[in-house]
Amino acid sequence: MDAIHIRGGNALFGETKIQGSKNAVLPVMAAALLIEDVCIIENCPCISDVHHMQQLLIGVGCKVSRTDQTLMIDARNLSEDTMSGENVTGMRSSITLLSAMLARMGEVTMAYPGGCVIGERPIDLHLNALRRMGVSIYEKEGCFTARVKELEGTVIRLPISSVGATENVLLASVMAKGVTVLQNAAMEPEIVTLCEFLREAGAVIEGIGGSVLIIQGGHKLHGIRFRIPADRIVAGTYLMSVLGAGGHIFLEDAPVAQMRSMLRAAEEMGAQIHIFREGLNVIADENKRAIPYLKTEIYPGFPTDMQSPLMTALSTAKGVSVIEETIFENRFHIVEQLKKMGACIEMKGKRKAVIVGVDSLLGCEVTAQELRGGAALVIAGVMALGETVVHNRHFIERGYEDICRDYQNLGVSICTG
Ligand code: UD1
Repeated sequence: MDAIHIRGGNALFGETKIQGSKNAVLPVMAAALLIEDVCIIENCPCISDVHHMQQLLIGVGCKVSRTDQTLMIDARNLSEDTMSGENVTGMRSSITLLSAMLARMGEVTMAYPGGCVIGERPIDLHLNALRRMGVSIYEKEGCFTARVKELEGTVIRLPISSVGATENVLLASVMAKGVTVLQNAAMEPEIVTLCEFLREAGAVIEGIGGSVLIIQGGHKLHGIRFRIPADRIVAGTYLMSVLGAGGHIFLEDAPVAQMRSMLRAAEEMGAQIHIFREGLNVIADENKRAIPYLKTEIYPGFPTDMQSPLMTALSTAKGVSVIEETIFENRFHIVEQLKKMGACIEMKGKRKAVIVGVDSLLGCEVTAQELRGGAALVIAGVMALGETVVHNRHFIERGYEDICRDYQNLGVSICTG
């Protein structure tokens, strides 16, 4: 029941619209919790991570309602300072609620967040940064309590430019007393979106888009209407699909300015890319070239979330490709599944994969173990001859509104079951 069935092996033709961004909307929802007012979020994707975040907001007292792609969050009255259960432990981005809750309630007790099985993903950077802002943290088994009288602005240098830690510091600092200088901040597009949301709501932030953010705290925030940009990783998923299977597709609303590293990789593989104001046009034939070496990097480098989709497309490229994963230490779960489909991939240690292109993949039953790896197995099914069944569809639904609908728009025979 929790599966996707694909009859693959054909080139893709058609167009599909790219949904709103998961990694942008989740911190924006956390930011809405910060604001003692009503926020309207447009182009909100209908995915299970958003649903879990909605449940967490409702759990602490927010009123949340949804009409199609528009989400209304009324955070005027909060009643609870404890967050636990599957909505926290099943989703890593629940940690972005930490600062918002501290700013609103002065205290929060949270279960440790969960998420994909892609490495250890600790939260030490989040907690250490908040400690520097005056927060006391008491850890207990499986959960922790954070407490603060008043958040204080300070200078914080992140040892790793973590996306989530940058988001938490941003949310704390807009409510803090004084100025916060955040050095080595993440520069991912989702951070820019969060800064724009906060700025429109009344926050004062300088350096947006750069690695040093300067935040003047304490300005009163008010409710706003805000539109979430399209999802660069979802657009990248379909880009890799047409590279893998060949064809000619148009990705409406694809956020091309955020996709430069992916487009460079696609061109290196032989795709023809045409950028329009309305989206991205891609033409690819089956004779794609290997990429001798590519590593995942922080933005604007090649995103770690695109590593599995790229590896899948490269599995039938002419020649040998090498991919090195530099962000997470354990993000090659799909290698064994792709090998079942006929791919020739050898791991060199935990972080490097050598992919020797084969003529074609063959459909079979495979199992998703996390979100982006799961989407990559669907790409493999689209490329493969015969029928592929991808089990554990629920991982994919964390981030893709309706992956079957999107592929059907591109001419693929695919359904849930
Ligand atoms: C976010 C994205 C995820 C993406 C990742 C990297 C969301 C909801 N998720 O995840 O899709 O793959 O950025 O672009 O936006 N680290 C620590 N300690 C910490 C925090 C992070 O050691 O306290 C390490 C992580 O283990 C990892 C690296 O820092 O090796 C980067 O992680 P981070 O940027 O924080 O990723 P997330 O915010 O979890």
